Amino acid sequence: MPQCHICSNTITPFMTFGQMPIANGFLSEKNTATEYFFELEVAHCPKCNAVQLPHQPEKEKMFHTEYPFFSGTSKSMQTHFADFADSVNTEYLAKLHDPFVIEIGCNDGILIKNFLNLGYRHLGIDPSANVADVARSKGVDVITSFFDITEAARIIKSHGQADLFLAANVMCHLSNINSVVEGIQRLLKPTGILVFEEPYLGEVIETTAYDQLYDEHVFLFSAHSVKFLFEQFEMELIDIAPQPTHGGSMRYTVAHKGQHSVTQTVTQQLQKETLLGLCEPSTYKKFKESCEKSRDQLVSLLESIAKRGETVAGYAATSKSTTVLNYCGIGSSLVSYICDTTPIKHSRLSPGMHIPVRPDHEFHDDYPDYALLFAYNHKNEIFQKEKAFSKQGGRWILYVPEVITL
Ligand code: TYD
Repeated sequence: MPQCHICSNTITPFMTFGQMPIANGFLSEKNTATEYFFELEVAHCPKCNAVQLPHQPEKEKMFHTEYPFFSGTSKSMQTHFADFADSVNTEYLAKLHDPFVIEIGCNDGILIKNFLNLGYRHLGIDPSANVADVARSKGVDVITSFFDITEAARIIKSHGQADLFLAANVMCHLSNINSVVEGIQRLLKPTGILVFEEPYLGEVIETTAYDQLYDEHVFLFSAHSVKFLFEQFEMELIDIAPQPTHGGSMRYTVAHKGQHSVTQTVTQQLQKETLLGLCEPSTYKKFKESCEKSRDQLVSLLESIAKRGETVAGYAATSKSTTVLNYCGIGSSLVSYICDTTPIKHSRLSPGMHIPVRPDHEFHDDYPDYALLFAYNHKNEIFQKEKAFSKQGGRWILYVPEVITL
C-alpha cells in the first residue's frame, strides 16, 4: 500500500484518471511510439489531509533541458508576481538591512527579478536549464538544481541564511517535500519567512477543476495539510490569503515557531475547510462523481458538435489540458488542433492524444466554430484579446466550474 509523502500514513487512492503521459511532454511524431505513461491515481491522507498522487514519475522525466513552460507568457501573471513581490517587500523586507531572498522553481525569473530590481541579494534555483537560462539573461543569479536538504547545506555555506524564501506553484511539485521543508527550515534565518502559493485544494473541489491533477502536481495543499507539514519541523503557518491565479490559489506564509504573530486568517481558513468537508473521505467520493459527470458532459458536447460538422480548436496547450484530453479520451477527431503562443510547443503533438499544437496565428487566420479554452485561468486576458473571434460568431467552450458554451 502506498504511504503519504508527508506523514507516512498508509493511503488508499479514491480515484484514478487512468494512464497519463507527462503533462508537459509535448512530443514530435517520431517519439510517439516510445511515449511514457503512468497511472494517475489520487489519494487523500486522513491523517495530514494532503491530497496527493501516490506515484509520481521520476522528476528528471518532468523537468529537464526542454521544459516547455515559461511563466512569463501571460501578462496577468507578470502583474500578479510584481504585486506579490511588492507586498512581501513592504511587509517584511523593506525594514531589513541588506536582505537575502531565495526562490525555488524560479523559472524564467518572473517573480525573483523584482527583488533583483530592488537591488537585493537574491538566488534563484531551478532544475530546468532552459528556463533558468532565460532568468539568467535578465540578470538573475540562478543555480540549475533540484532543491533539497543537501542543496540547502551548500547554499548556507556559499551564501548564508535567507530572510525570505519564495516558491510560486512549486511546493506542490515536490514529492520529497519533507527534505525540502527541512532544507528551508535550516536555510531561513530565525526571523526569516517563507511565502509560497499554489493551486488551492478547496477551489479544485468546489469547481471540479480536476485538470489541476497531473504528474507535476503531486500535492493539492490546504491550510490543514500545510499546517501539519510545517509543524513537523517546528515551523508554523502564520498567514493565509486567497489568490485569483490558476483558477483559485492560496498564498501561505510560514515562519519559525513563535517568531511572528499568527493572523486570524489561519483559524478562519481552517474552519472554512472543515465546513467544506476537506478532511472527510466522503468529499473525495463526491469529487470523483463530479469529475465523471464533467467528463461525460464535455465528451457529449464535443461529439454533438462534430456530428453537426462544426469545428473545434483547443485554446492554449496547457499542462492541465493533458489531463482533460487523456481522461476524457478526446483526440483530433473532436479537437482538430490546439493553438498556443509558446514557440517550443509548436509543430509538436499534445501528450497522449497527439493533437497537433499550432501557433496562435493559425487560429486567427481561420477561426474554428468553437474554441475549447484550456487556459480558463487566463479567461479575462484571453477574452479581451480574442474579442474578434466572438464577434464573428465563434463560441467558447468552458469546462470549469461546469461544461458550458459562451
Ligand atoms: P497556464 O494556465 O499557466 O498553463 P499550465 O496549465 O501549464 O499551468 O497557461 C499557460 C499556457 O497557455 C502556455 O502554454 C501559453 C498558453 N497561452 C496562450 O497560448 N495564449 C494566451 O493568451 C495565454 C494567456 C496563455
